[in-house]
Formats: sequence, C-alpha cells, structure tokens
Amino acid sequence: MDGVQIVDHPLVQHKLTLMRDKTRSTKGFRQLMNEVGMLLCYELTRDLELEEIEIETPLTKTRANVIAGKKLVFAPILRAGVGFLDGMLNLVPSARIAHIGIYRDHVTLDAVEYFLKCPEDIADRIVIVIDPMLATGNTAVAAIDRLKERGATKLRYVCLLAAPEGIERLRGAHPDVPIWTASIDDHLDEAGYIWPGLGDAGDRMFGTR
Ligand code: URA
Repeated sequence: MDGVQIVDHPLVQHKLTLMRDKTRSTKGFRQLMNEVGMLLCYELTRDLELEEIEIETPLTKTRANVIAGKKLVFAPILRAGVGFLDGMLNLVPSARIAHIGIYRDHVTLDAVEYFLKCPEDIADRIVIVIDPMLATGNTAVAAIDRLKERGATKLRYVCLLAAPEGIERLRGAHPDVPIWTASIDDHLDEAGYIWPGLGDAGDRMFGTR
C-alpha cells in the first residue's frame, strides 16, 4: 500500500503475537512494547541521510559517516505513545521529545486535545509521531494538524497496529506522512476497537481499566 510500510521482521511479528495474547502480564506487555518500539525505530530510520565528517581513530585521520541534520523529534501521543518512547530512545538517545495530549471521546470517538509541548525549531527536524494503535485515525490526524501548525514539515507516523479505516483516514488527510506499522488488522468495531487487535493498549501497558 502506498505510503505504508508493514514491518514484517520475524522478531516484530513474534513479539506482536505475544502482545495480542490476553494472558500477557502488564509487566510483560510493557517490556514487549519497549522492544518493539526499538525494532520499529530501527526500520523507520533506515533511510536517514548521512554526511561524512573527519575524525581521528587511534591510528589515523579518516572520514566517516554520521546522521546529517538536526536531531530527530519523537512525538508520542499521550498516553499509549509513551510505551514506545524508551525503546526508541535506546536507539536515538539524543532525540528531542514533543508531548501531545489528545484523547478519544468514548462516545463520539472524536479527538480532544489537552496538551502540546514541542521543541521550538520543530520545522528543521524530522518528527516521528508515535501512537501504538491507529484506529479511527482521528487522533493521528489531529496530532499531525497541530504539529504542522507549529511548523513541522517532515513527519513520519509509527504504530504497532493499524485498522484499514485509520490508514485511509490518515493517508487521506496527510498523504505526505508515511506510516510504519507491524500489522494492518481486519476492521474497527463500533466502539472504535481494532479487531482482532490487542484491546486497549494504554490500559494493558499501565495496568488500568
Ligand atoms: N486504542 C486502543 O488502545 N485499542 C484499540 O483497539 C483502538 C484504539
């Protein structure tokens, strides 16, 4: 599908299956979230530009590659997006963080924004929007609308699971934002849950109901 990368690495698929299992403990779910966040981050940074710099090894001067441009911004959507953050920061420890507080109204399924704090120079950086579940797509679209209002132009979106409906909505509203996901599931139900899915990612990660 255009603009959508399904990360079919065996480790990601294996860990996703463990997360879908309803008997997985909160501790286990959180740990897996962390690990999958790291693996997805590895995939979505695969095409970052490199530049050569001059360094000195213990033996000689040489030229070697580093990632070009300013540090990345990770933009987790509260609260479930936080679950990927530690894993992603393990790979990119110098990333800046933009926190986006948006929740989904349980009745209307509309996105309600309550918090946004992001680096001032967000326009100069690649911004990775993080939310494990791309369900209706309303939250993702609202988050990206807000980040673009603040100047972001180079955005990527990463989730663990996506519903076809969410992908269509996000690609329709923001066709310039590529999506990385471990799976496109079957459908959304009328309450906005992804099927077969894994339930409420935030509740499973934080041990709430
Ligand atoms: N958010 C979740 O946590 N789970 C879903 O199935 C849909 C949205």
